[in-house]
Formats: sequence, structure tokens, C-alpha cells
Amino acid sequence: MESMDDLRVTECTRCPALVDSRSRIVNGTGPEDADVLFVGEGPGANEDEQGEPFVGRSGSVLDDQLRIVGLERANVRITNCVRCRPPENRDPTTDELENCRGYLECEIDRLDPDVIVTLGKVPSEHLLGRSVAVTKEAGTLEDVRIEGTPRRVLICVHPAATLYDRSQEETFAAAIERAAELADVDGSESGQSRLDGF
Ligand code: URA
Repeated sequence: MESMDDLRVTECTRCPALVDSRSRIVNGTGPEDADVLFVGEGPGANEDEQGEPFVGRSGSVLDDQLRIVGLERANVRITNCVRCRPPENRDPTTDELENCRGYLECEIDRLDPDVIVTLGKVPSEHLLGRSVAVTKEAGTLEDVRIEGTPRRVLICVHPAATLYDRSQEETFAAAIERAAELADVDGSESGQSRLDGF
């Protein structure tokens, strides 16, 4: 595999269609010892332009919900199944997912997060290795071996789903709340809030 210093892929030409469609490789963002790792599908137009995952409308939905549950974007890690924008925002192909898998596994291994939150169908199916009815299964925690190590994966709907279908807002909110609980974060009882009383 191409080298991945600091979890950044700086050069990769494995997926010809993605090499053509991308402006840049979009690496994960956030601390390398974060307790929570969010995994999306792949960069969209905004991410491709800015070089960071979830910076468009989906990113705003995610950021707002993180804040509500006491998780700040700056304290979590956010990455994608594929690091290059697919043309016309199509889903990544099986080959593309496979080509990028090693980078994701390396990131998971280095981070060793308490929980991995899969945002949408593509990352859920990619990491769980089965078909997932994401709306029905959102909020479900599943143990899965990734590169031989047991990992906790929390299924979540993609934040964009809440933009198309308002009824998904609650499902999304509940799953993010669960992620915060699993990472042992409680907005109302965080260290800062407790200290406020003194
Ligand atoms: N959707 C994703 O799945 N990932 C991003 O980075 C942005 C939107």
C-alpha cells in the first residue's frame, strides 16, 4: 500500500475513474486518539473542493447533532470509505471500496476507537459485511472483527437522509445520542458542566 504517514494518503492511483473525477484526496480529520470514529461513504463536491470530510450540508447536520449531544467535531474523527469523489456523486463501486479499504483499516487500527459510527448504507454494509436496512437498524450496535480485532459498530442513517425525509431526524438524533453514551460523553454532566457548580 502507498504510505500513510499521519493517516494521510498523499498519493494513490488505484481507481482510474476516481483519479479522473477528484480534485484531491480527502483524508480523515480529527484527533488520532478520538473515542468516536464516524465513517461516511465518500467525498461530495464540497469535500472534494475543501479537502475535508462532511463540510457541506450533511456536515452541518452532523455538526449540529454532535453539539447537541456534547460531542464536538474537533474531538471526534471523521472519515470516509473512499477518499476520492466518485463522478456524479454515484456510490463507490465494490472495487473502489476494496481499493480504499486498507487505508480505512489502518485508520481504525491506529485510532482504536470505542465506537465506529457508520453514516448510511454504504459504510454500514462495507464494515459489517452484510446487507443493512439502515433506517430500520439505525441505533443498533454490532460487534464485528476488522482485521482480526473486535470492533463496536453503531449503525446510523446518513445525515443527508434527514434533509430529504424529516421523519429521519429523530432516527439520526437517537443514533448520535447513543454514540455519545458509548463514548461516555454526557453533555449535562461533562467535566466542564460539573466544574460550573464550583
Ligand atoms: N457524504 C459522505 O458520505 N461523506 C462526506 O464526506 C460528505 C458527504
